[in-house]
Amino acid sequence: MEFTIQVFEMKEQKVLRLALLLSYLILVTRGNGIRSINQGETTRDIVTGPKINKIIEMDGGDIFDCVDVNLQPAFNHPLLKDHKIQMESSTFPVGMDVKLPSRHHVSQAQPPIVACPRGTIPIRRNHIRNHIELKSIDEVFGTDKHQEAVGIEYKHDEIYGTQAIINVYEPKVKNDSKDFSATVVEIYNGPGLSEAIVAGYSVSPKLSGDTFARFHVAWDDVVQKKSCYDHTCPGFVQVSHEFGLGGILRPASVYNGPQYFITILIFKDPKTKNWWVICCQENTPIGYWSSSLFTYIKDKGETVFWGGYVSGPTATTDSPQIGSGHFSSEGYGKAAFIRHIQIVDKNNKYVNPYKNKVFPGSSNSSKYTVNGYGVDKYGMHMYYGGPGDLV
Ligand SMILES: *[C@@H]1O[C@H](CO)[C@@H](O)[C@H](O)[C@H]1NC(C)=O
Ligand SMILES: *[C@@H]1O[C@H](CO)[C@@H](O)[C@H](O)[C@H]1NC(C)=O
Repeated sequence: MEFTIQVFEMKEQKVLRLALLLSYLILVTRGNGIRSINQGETTRDIVTGPKINKIIEMDGGDIFDCVDVNLQPAFNHPLLKDHKIQMESSTFPVGMDVKLPSRHHVSQAQPPIVACPRGTIPIRRNHIRNHIELKSIDEVFGTDKHQEAVGIEYKHDEIYGTQAIINVYEPKVKNDSKDFSATVVEIYNGPGLSEAIVAGYSVSPKLSGDTFARFHVAWDDVVQKKSCYDHTCPGFVQVSHEFGLGGILRPASVYNGPQYFITILIFKDPKTKNWWVICCQENTPIGYWSSSLFTYIKDKGETVFWGGYVSGPTATTDSPQIGSGHFSSEGYGKAAFIRHIQIVDKNNKYVNPYKNKVFPGSSNSSKYTVNGYGVDKYGMHMYYGGPGDLV
């Protein structure tokens, strides 16, 4: 019971707001109501801003522009005017080498490798104009927004990073709905958990025009009063010349078939204080958020969430799937997992989460469940997910 309450709290305070983080087009202007932005604004920085060195069309139709790493959208942020780019982290968290136990045959899902020349970074073109008409946020998500969440919340600690291995699925979201389903690693802090940094995948047909699992980073810009993701508003500094944010993760896992995963690490560089995001094969450093962007997670996080959530106008009445779309009790190969979950402590060391700060739960356990969680020498692990209302 207590677990449910914990996640319910999370749902009320956080996921409600989080819901906006991974969505296109949306700026949340706190205190000033909410507005949507028009296409011109969305693409201005990307298309007519920095000079495009090269245009790359991926298999499947995604288009990436290669732009000069020093002229990327991030530097339009008022707080990054005099920012000196850090091309590499000064160190990495220390601790165990993360390998999956060999008894499970799983392979890595691949993010799109975009062949931008060194000195440039790939920026995905906004697909929205091709797929949906532009609408106000109220029209897109309805006047009251609905969310469900399932996973583990970890509270009341000093968080300098976290690492997790995430099983990649393509949860079913009705393609004519405005809902989406995401699985994320998220660190947050501040009153009402007001500031967050997030990495993970989401399926959002209304917003991306398809039902693939796409990799995103997202964050709250408390100063600019926005929730942002990828390069749709300035802030995230990308250093990788080939990691395509917003790109499709392939292959996705198959229920009772081959399983695929990605490894996500978010950690604070102890020297520069930048929050780095590392992912996927060869642990690619994608880029970072400068701590100067933040008010509350400048120094550290206080809470972490690992798990799935759904959001949108029908997310509670006609809920999309989370994870594999199957309940956590089905276990390996059938239910989605997150494992090798570790925290980075203030000494820049991986540590296992403290059990008494771990709160697994579901906002509605008739739709989604979390199961089999525990901590072993590989870190914390769980199965999570469910069919929602799509039975
Ligand atoms: C939803 O997906 C199905 C199967 O791919 C397709 O036949 C249908 O046209 C799609 N509906 C919408 C509204 O895009
Ligand atoms: C949980 O979901 C079920 C199925 O959609 C629904 O009937 C029930 O009212 C929900 N419970 C809560 C507490 O929202």
